[in-house]
Amino acid sequence: MNTNQLDTIAELLEKARKITVFTGAGVSTNSGIPDFRGENGLYSYVQKHYNLPYPEAIFELDFFREDPRVFYSFTGEMMTDEVQPTTTHHFLAWLEKHEKISLIMTQNIDMLHQKAGSSRVFECHGTFQTGHCLSCNKEYSFEEFETNLKSGTVKQCSCSGIVKPDIVFFGETLPAAFFDLLENPPATDLVLTLGSSLQVQPAAGFILQLTGSSTPSILINLQKTAYDSYFNHVIHEDVDAVSDYLWEILAGKL
Ligand code: OAD
Repeated sequence: MNTNQLDTIAELLEKARKITVFTGAGVSTNSGIPDFRGENGLYSYVQKHYNLPYPEAIFELDFFREDPRVFYSFTGEMMTDEVQPTTTHHFLAWLEKHEKISLIMTQNIDMLHQKAGSSRVFECHGTFQTGHCLSCNKEYSFEEFETNLKSGTVKQCSCSGIVKPDIVFFGETLPAAFFDLLENPPATDLVLTLGSSLQVQPAAGFILQLTGSSTPSILINLQKTAYDSYFNHVIHEDVDAVSDYLWEILAGKL
């Protein structure tokens, strides 16, 4: 790791009071949840193990309507109770406790930011906490379809329609509040992007629009992204190793 660069970043974090954070699947890989587009990501797994026209179909609304069994059998394989937040989730919660976080915009649906103690979180790709029937729109709570998700059996509504968890699929729009935040982003004195390929719009646009001004910006991601040049400080390292290093420095200062 380039410790000079990390020391500069520690100084920026120490000074900052309104950090806007953007997180993707890379902040959760160390908890055992694969990312999407990384080397051993979900999309390459899905491609090998499911008979799909292309891997993203697993999260496509039209495909789900046609055959919801694929999605449910996938969640049946993936959902476990044991997943715990990583160092990075805890580090962000600690920064929030020190009144440094303006907002964590996350694309993740694993709730690990909240589990670590962060509260200023916006889940732009929705949540598993609720679901809706695609036919009559009846709402269901997570508890009402949890067994289906874990056993891989399709949840049917009392009207016999199919229940879809409220995570955002391709073909659906993001929650309206996301677009409010896109138009009126929170006050930000430091941009911090962690563990995202920045490939998916409009989510990535939220953070990219905050770069390029006089506000300093940091990107920490294992692999290069197509948007590295938008950021003042770019680190291609494991995000938990970086968080560990920064936390140790800041713990002595905050
Ligand atoms: P991606 O899989 O596209 O990108 C995750 C990035 O995290 C990759 O570039 C990895 O290199 C990096 N990464 C993985 N582990 C890391 C680690 N330990 N430390 C640092 N970096 C690491 O995931 P997202 O950008 O989150 O949307 O994907 C965005 C959206 O695409 C998801 O929210 C999902 C997906 O389709 C929907 O399903 C709507």
